[in-house]
Amino acid sequence: MSVEKGPRLRGVLDGIPTYKPGKPAATGGPVAYKLSSNENPYPPLPGVLESVTGAAAAFNRYPDMACTGLTNELAERFGVPASHIATGTGSVGVAQSLLQSTAGPGDEVIYAWRSFEAYPIITRISGATAVQVPLTAGEVHDLDAMAGAITERTRLIFVCNPNNPTGTVVRRAELERFLDRVPGDVLVVLDEAYREFIRDPEVPDGVEIYRDRPNVCVLRTFSKAYGLAGLRVGFAIAHEPVAAALRKTAVPFGVSQIAQDAAVASLRAEDALMERVEALVGERARVYEGLVAQGWTVPPTQANFVWLRLGERTADFAAACEAAGVVVRPFAGEGARVTVGEAEANDRFLTVAQEFRKEL
Ligand SMILES: Cc1ncc(COP(=O)(O)O)c(C=O)c1O
Repeated sequence: MSVEKGPRLRGVLDGIPTYKPGKPAATGGPVAYKLSSNENPYPPLPGVLESVTGAAAAFNRYPDMACTGLTNELAERFGVPASHIATGTGSVGVAQSLLQSTAGPGDEVIYAWRSFEAYPIITRISGATAVQVPLTAGEVHDLDAMAGAITERTRLIFVCNPNNPTGTVVRRAELERFLDRVPGDVLVVLDEAYREFIRDPEVPDGVEIYRDRPNVCVLRTFSKAYGLAGLRVGFAIAHEPVAAALRKTAVPFGVSQIAQDAAVASLRAEDALMERVEALVGERARVYEGLVAQGWTVPPTQANFVWLRLGERTADFAAACEAAGVVVRPFAGEGARVTVGEAEANDRFLTVAQEFRKEL
């Protein structure tokens, strides 16, 4: 028996980039702010925290595998049948199930690039081929080019709206026109992780779009506006065959009872949470306008972050931010994504940006 050879791993894993989490803020030194993961800067609401401590007293038991309470609550909230809802360990968990449900070796998955960095990872893990369609010069999805990239091997298309990391959106008319061009047997996933931050009335609510399009699935998360990133709960709204496939491919018991109860409590505390979102949207405007006034070109953002295309200066910019106590998310050689955080963090970021601008 050969001892040198380890277990044989799937070849598709070779070269798959590992998901890079946003860098944490430094601890121990002066106050530092984490603006690298598009998290909600507000701590949990007291009522939500209470639901979590209640559920924690029973974690010797498995959670409700069907997420019954949460599913029913979501069905009512969105006016959809409960059978159209599938939950998962964050929306990225649901996205992985979507791939497992639709695509394998020989199939193709289309998405814009740059977009959410999990797309290439989960696509390649599925064995399918990633077809990346560059964003337009304005950093927006090029839906015409994406429609043009569809072949008979295409199984799934991600449309990230607003797009991570650029914050840009696609609007109703162009999205409808695109969907009309997609064959009915290709699943279109509208990834709306940042939906609650949208204020542009021309951006459609995916839940309205999915209703009469059986090949459209909407992805939502409790991680951003609802502030539950650490609890890992997201969901899809899709027609029954797709939602059923998601339930089949989900990791059993993937959503803890703590996460389920916190999500239900968050839906019930939606008014208080949406006030916080409104405050963040106000901060977003302040950050965006501040950067524009400093002379930066910033794509208009409808998410809780801004995008600066810094090219070769990206690493220097991230280092300058870090030295000033704000951790941003650099994409080497391309640009930096900066989350809109608490006012003090945003002030610090604006100050660094102003200084850095003088060097450009
Ligand atoms: C566009 C997009 N989709 C999905 C997710 C996944 O979020 P979660 O798995 O926490 O629900 C993120 C997180 O950054 C995101 O930016």
